[in-house]
Amino acid sequence: MSGQIIVIAQQKGGSGKTTVAVNLATAFLSKGKSVALLDTDPQGSLGKWFMMRIEKFSENPNLRFSTATAWGISYELRSLSKVVDFIIVDTPPKADSDLRPALRAADLILVPLSASHVDLWATQDVLDLADRVGKDAHIVMNRTRSDTRLGAEVADAVHEFDAKVLKSTLGSRVIFAEALGLGLGVVEAKKNSIAALEVMALADEVTASLLDN
Ligand SMILES: Nc1ncnc2c1ncn2[C@@H]1O[C@H](COP(=O)(O)OP(=O)(O)OP(=O)(O)O)[C@@H](O)[C@H]1O
Ligand SMILES: [Mg+2]
Repeated sequence: MSGQIIVIAQQKGGSGKTTVAVNLATAFLSKGKSVALLDTDPQGSLGKWFMMRIEKFSENPNLRFSTATAWGISYELRSLSKVVDFIIVDTPPKADSDLRPALRAADLILVPLSASHVDLWATQDVLDLADRVGKDAHIVMNRTRSDTRLGAEVADAVHEFDAKVLKSTLGSRVIFAEALGLGLGVVEAKKNSIAALEVMALADEVTASLLDN
């Protein structure tokens, strides 16, 4: 087995890295895939989500969790890629040399971008880092609000980056925050919600992009 490595990176704090990580993971699980989550962020939000999950619900043998420092990551990824279908790496809100080992190992780099100008300003740094390791980054729009001028401005501006913008987007929906706080993904918390449909579409697009690479 050679598991596919998805690295989620964005300098801007709160852009949705951990949200995308847990929701992609639980979408893949719902499709019968095995997933390893790797938290490289000292804040440990992904680990807190995982601990809450295993305290409240029975443990799913298809979902593993581990942590790694920037320099331990290559070894950890090599081991995990032998045993799971997907490895999802959550990273801290920084775009510095510590990110390089993860970006180098990535089969797909996802850059969540929340609908704000500050997020736009922060995005170029991570795109540059991806470029420096010879990888394309894929932007995923998060917290979209189609009914606002800000949302429309950001959606337009994002196409000016030299990066692919995924068609799938995640709307600004309370269920994303609620599910995270419960140790769940939205596909588990509210299976037929719009949020769950958005996440399943994102998982399908990510899978298709991995096949394209
Ligand atoms: N689409 C969304 N709709 C509503 N709330 C969201 C959405 N995406 C993220 N959030 C909320 O925004 C906050 C920040 O999200 P998240 O923790 O995923 O960002 P992050 O990029 O991992 O942050 P950090 O850089 O601090 O690690 C969380 O409270 C989360 O529940
Ligand atoms: Mg996070």
